[in-house]
Amino acid sequence: MTPPNSPPPSSGGASSAFREDCLEGQVALITGGGTGIGRGISLTLARHGARIALASRDREHLDPTAEEIRELGGEAFVSELDVRDRETVKAAVDRTREELGPIDILVNNAAGNFLVRAEELSEGGWKAVVDIVLTGTFNLSQAVFSHMKEDGGGSIVNITTTYTETGAPWMAHSGAAKAGVLNLTRTLATEWGRHGIRVNAVAPGLVEGTEGARRLVESIGVKEEFERSVPLGRLTTVDDVAHAILFLCSSAAADVTGVEIVVDGGASLGGKFAQIGDRIPKG
Ligand code: COA
Repeated sequence: MTPPNSPPPSSGGASSAFREDCLEGQVALITGGGTGIGRGISLTLARHGARIALASRDREHLDPTAEEIRELGGEAFVSELDVRDRETVKAAVDRTREELGPIDILVNNAAGNFLVRAEELSEGGWKAVVDIVLTGTFNLSQAVFSHMKEDGGGSIVNITTTYTETGAPWMAHSGAAKAGVLNLTRTLATEWGRHGIRVNAVAPGLVEGTEGARRLVESIGVKEEFERSVPLGRLTTVDDVAHAILFLCSSAAADVTGVEIVVDGGASLGGKFAQIGDRIPKG
């Protein structure tokens, strides 16, 4: 038997805790859906029946994932946009609806980030990250709103982070932007619930194999040390994140809106000393 806390099967695998047709007939638009976590989200939602629209600045990042979805027997549509530019956003959203039909799901996954000391962060660097992360999330959400309202509702999932409340060094721009995304998630949930639109967030921990994990722990050789500090003892996987999003988009979450699901194995809890627990004197 598989231990209950082992990672979910990879998005390349066939099994899942969810019924394979749980998103049958639904259309999901995923920004940044061609690479990294976005690719995992796209494949997972496709594997559960959704028709997928992939959108980002670089078509070459999207085409291979679209092809993978088609090889799985799914439907994929690719469009180029810059999440910072309302006109390209609106055009991509309108084209998606024309090609695939009403948009049921939006995953605001596109992001930009780099590690930098706050005192060295240039005006352009601050603006690029805040615009991609926060303004981009707003632009896409606003662009799908009128369609979702007209089409009877939908589900929006934003990607936040575990350091929105704690802060984290070298991420002044992305931390502030993601904290904004969390507030936006809750605000839109209050405004759009009456139109049947649910807005939620998923906050991943350090995700194995991604640029973020490489920069922070893998390349500097502290991966094992980090893992020992995580209550569940491992880095988060792309599939852990994708499955939380699948839950939020599914009918299992029909009454869930305005929440943030943290998917980090407990890493952001105050558990730094748990690993020395067996050295604590008894009594
Ligand atoms: N360190 C410091 N400043 C950086 C930087 C880095 N690694 N990368 C970009 N910047 C600054 C640039 O100097 C520029 O600022 P300036 O105009 O004041 O000189 C500003 O950010 C915009 O850079 P540019 O590359 O033109 O922006 P972009 O809009 O094309 O892309 C990013 C912005 C953040 C997406 C891009 O820097 C990037 O590709 N980052 C790494 C990949 C990534 O973010 N992946 C997602 C992980 S969540």
